[in-house]
Amino acid sequence: MGKQDSHRSQPVSGRYHDAMVRTFSGIQPTGEVHLGNYLGAFGRWAREQEPEHFFCIVDLHAMTAPYDPPVLRERVVDVACWLLAAGIDPDVSILFIQSHVREHTECTWILNCVATMGELSRMVQYKEKSAQRQSVSVGLFDYPVLQAADILLYDADEVPVGADQQQHVELTRDIAQRFNARFGETFALPRATLPRAGARVMDLQQPDRRMSKSVSSPQGKILLSESEEITRKKIMRAVTDSGTEIRAAEDKPGVSNLLDLLAATTGAEIAELETRYKGKNYGDLKRDVAESVNGVLRPVRQRYAELRNDPAEVAALLRRGAGAAREVASKTMDRVRERTGLVAS
Ligand code: TYM
Repeated sequence: MGKQDSHRSQPVSGRYHDAMVRTFSGIQPTGEVHLGNYLGAFGRWAREQEPEHFFCIVDLHAMTAPYDPPVLRERVVDVACWLLAAGIDPDVSILFIQSHVREHTECTWILNCVATMGELSRMVQYKEKSAQRQSVSVGLFDYPVLQAADILLYDADEVPVGADQQQHVELTRDIAQRFNARFGETFALPRATLPRAGARVMDLQQPDRRMSKSVSSPQGKILLSESEEITRKKIMRAVTDSGTEIRAAEDKPGVSNLLDLLAATTGAEIAELETRYKGKNYGDLKRDVAESVNGVLRPVRQRYAELRNDPAEVAALLRRGAGAAREVASKTMDRVRERTGLVAS
């Protein structure tokens, strides 16, 4: 067993149980990474990493939307550089590319025979994405089953994600439960964990919509790759609400988003910020949000620039991560094959 398995020594009904929490999460190499990805997901992955934590660049998921092959290849390395720049340490946690561990596709097929058309049709992300397209691939429909395979192969207890991925993690739990009921205890049941603030960073121009790689306009999203000056301008031009009061409320989505960004980047509570900004104006708030966001991103942006100069080193780290991930995933697949009645090869 690899180092990450050394203290998972007590099999409980076929799976391994221990005091350490096992974590899995993933990010698609589509579009450029933005502030929502950082605050909702990988900034937190880096801060909370431990040896039992698996982080995956999900290139197979990225194939469910039209794409250009050379661009995909480039983006995988680019996203890896951002994750490393954020502080993910490949000597602590396990960072790898999904397609390097073939068990992900194999497990997906078996889970396809457990998941139902009805539950996949109810996925909000599928409904939104399929509504934007003329032709919908089977891959897009099946996307959440591949995501379930990602998570279940590693017996993950926790899945740190933004709020938009919660439904997919709940589906994963349902599929795991059904599988366990049909074939015997095999998979751990995962749960999504959300950050205290920044779980749903909204588009700066349309604050009733999530900041998104594919949908947001350039003015609506803060890219990690842009300069501090551009970030500052975008925040200063963010759409706010009528009135002047600085408080979080449903009818004030723009101001609520700015308060959430400040809470996520300073650690302050929203209520505390509302008190602090009594009598101040939207301009004051925006200036402080811009400064705080740039302050958090500054070291990440600096490290990224260094890492991007050494793609060969990054590729080597990812291959090493895949080796460690495969050790765990292949054992799970042995268990799955045995439980589902496949003849040993
Ligand atoms: P993806 O690539 O869209 O996003 C990566 C992570 O960023 C979070 N996120 C946000 N958080 C806060 N505010 C936002 N505006 C925002 N936009 C995105 C997402 O919630 C996510 O945590 N299906 C997944 C990738 C995936 C995965 C997995 C995740 C594949 N397999 C297994 C967890 C476990 C996705 O499309 O993420």
